[in-house]
Amino acid sequence: MSPLVPTDSEGKHITYFTSTGLLRDEHRSPSAQRSHWLGSLPVVNCPSMRRFVIVGHKAAVTPEFPLNDLPGSAGRMDVLCRAVGAAFFLSHDLRRDVEVVLLLQETVQIRLVGRQLRHLNPDERSTAALLKRALEAMDEKEVESTPGIFVSPGDLGSSLDRLYQIGAHPIVLHEKGTPLNECSMPENPAFFLSDHLPFTTSDEAILSELPHLSLGPRLLHTSQCITIVHYLLDQYAQSVQDDLALCHKVWGEPKAMLIKGLLEDFNIPTNLVSHVPQSVLPMTIDGLAEVRIMVRKSDLQRAKEIIAEYFEESMDR
Ligand SMILES: C[S@@+](CC[C@H](N)C(=O)[O-])C[C@H]1O[C@@H](n2cnc3c(N)ncnc32)[C@H](O)[C@@H]1O
Repeated sequence: MSPLVPTDSEGKHITYFTSTGLLRDEHRSPSAQRSHWLGSLPVVNCPSMRRFVIVGHKAAVTPEFPLNDLPGSAGRMDVLCRAVGAAFFLSHDLRRDVEVVLLLQETVQIRLVGRQLRHLNPDERSTAALLKRALEAMDEKEVESTPGIFVSPGDLGSSLDRLYQIGAHPIVLHEKGTPLNECSMPENPAFFLSDHLPFTTSDEAILSELPHLSLGPRLLHTSQCITIVHYLLDQYAQSVQDDLALCHKVWGEPKAMLIKGLLEDFNIPTNLVSHVPQSVLPMTIDGLAEVRIMVRKSDLQRAKEIIAEYFEESMDR
């Protein structure tokens, strides 16, 4: 069999994601165009995180603000609290795969981490009380003020740098951007939104290189945008899940990652499923660290051929 190299119809290599994470479908070769989002599937064992970075232009940066006047003297803290609620809350549940970063007046960063959050309730006032506690705990280095809430000095630039460092894919939500449903969605997307005010010229300068995506031409509230993004990503995750088939099983994550990388070089998105969370048991133990490599049903045959070609392993495993 000849070596398998991912190319488009003109023989050029296909790359789906830019460093900022997105390409429009029209920028792909015709053969690579699909009707909906592409790219890596969320990895079940290491779930894709959804991040929302909200720029608060007037929000209080010291803890003296009154909980009874969030829209007024707290500098529209109510907008930020509603956004936090929209990002985390399901009915009687919390989304654990979410991180919210609040940037207050280009001075303070408050991070809320779904997996570790405690004491967050759906009402805005109690969320504001947690933010107040965070501002009280503010120090030169990042401090965890209450479980899952971290406060530090921070601004848009440093927040963006951090996202790149942790492998997130920053995206600006903007009503004049490219329609979101025409674009691929990368793993670990990080959506930047403004509060009740537009992004400033200096915000725009920092964010200018990022993809700008729109949820339609109408100007929406920050919290509404977050709800819509969750809806779209939930739908996408469900459709991916319904379309998956078992392609291969290996023992241990390093080998699984190798195969995942190989298949993704051929534009075959993969999803790794393991029953041993790496953070709990990092070493490979036969019988425990079985990793299942899942692909779309339409990619199954091709994926098996590629694995057999490169690893000379039975396709029936
Ligand atoms: C309430 S809007 C900002 C309104 C502000 N007064 C203005 O004129 O831009 C809050 C944020 O939600 C996001 N947003 C609002 N409508 C959007 C849309 N249709 N598509 C994508 N993002 C949107 C943007 O990030 C926006 O900065």
